[in-house]
Amino acid sequence: MPSSSLNIFSEKYKEIIENQFRRSVEGLQAPNVLKEAMLYSLEAGGKRIRPLLLFATIDAFQKDPEIGLHAAAAIEMIHTYSLIHDDLPSMDNDDLRRGKPTNHIVFGEANAILAGDALLTYSFQLLAEAPESTISLKNKLALIQLLAQSAGAEGMVGGQVADMIGEEKTLNLDELQYIHLHKTGKLLTCSILSGAILGEANKEQMEQLEKFSYHLGLAFQIRDDLLDISGDESIIGKPVGSDEENHKATYPSLLGMNGAEEALEKHYHLAKEALLNVGDRTRLLEELTDIIVKRDH
Ligand code: IPE
Ligand code: IPE
Ligand code: MG
Ligand code: MG
Ligand code: MG
Repeated sequence: MPSSSLNIFSEKYKEIIENQFRRSVEGLQAPNVLKEAMLYSLEAGGKRIRPLLLFATIDAFQKDPEIGLHAAAAIEMIHTYSLIHDDLPSMDNDDLRRGKPTNHIVFGEANAILAGDALLTYSFQLLAEAPESTISLKNKLALIQLLAQSAGAEGMVGGQVADMIGEEKTLNLDELQYIHLHKTGKLLTCSILSGAILGEANKEQMEQLEKFSYHLGLAFQIRDDLLDISGDESIIGKPVGSDEENHKATYPSLLGMNGAEEALEKHYHLAKEALLNVGDRTRLLEELTDIIVKRDH
């Protein structure tokens, strides 16, 4: 595939998923302010990396990526809820997200909490209601189980709690790695493994994709930590210096900028290596990995 194919692929599937968000939320029988708050953050933009990883993984198994629409939308809704809550005054207390005022700045704290709750809950409804002609019941159950585990206490939420416990402390590398693998890595892994479930990957391919996800998750959050220091607010769309202000444990705070760059490079190469054993159609996943590691936002 020529390298411009990732652009074409991304544009196509971003549009498909964004249409799904609008259709889903506008159709809800719920107070208008809640629907507005949910759509505000969903439509604020965002790179849609998780849906794209899911669609690209399905593509690696020569299946139609569109069978992943419900799972991809569910994961992006949970990711968006995690950002709304992450920005709250009681958490990172940030006022800019995806280039716009954060949800609680526009809708107030209570509505922001509730919009997050609604996105989290609705994501499971959306997935559960996917037609059987798109996802078999067996796969649907596997996707729901994986999503619940990746998002909750054993996944993203557990990581967010560890991230807060880590404030004002010097953690060792294992403790810091736990935070990154959970608050960020778990939903990325969920995206890739959901694509693998839908693509009917075999056991060996699953194992290699898990390894890929592990290193990609770490690389993703190390890049995020670096951008929090050296990024440009108008490009990253969120405040620079938030981690230092909140005394967060990050890769740069533990290893320095150079040490963090080296760790990023290491996990980038290990992620790429794992992909080699997945098959011969991993070009989109390879290109997404490059984008994640080299991104400026
Ligand atoms: C930001 O995720 C939060 C982290 C897990 C580091 P993204 O960098 O994917 O944010 P959006 O979705 O593009 O806004
Ligand atoms: C949070 O990590 C990851 C989640 C939202 C689960 P950060 O706090 O570093 O994310 P940003 O930098 O605010 O996007
Ligand atoms: Mg945070
Ligand atoms: Mg934050
Ligand atoms: Mg950050």
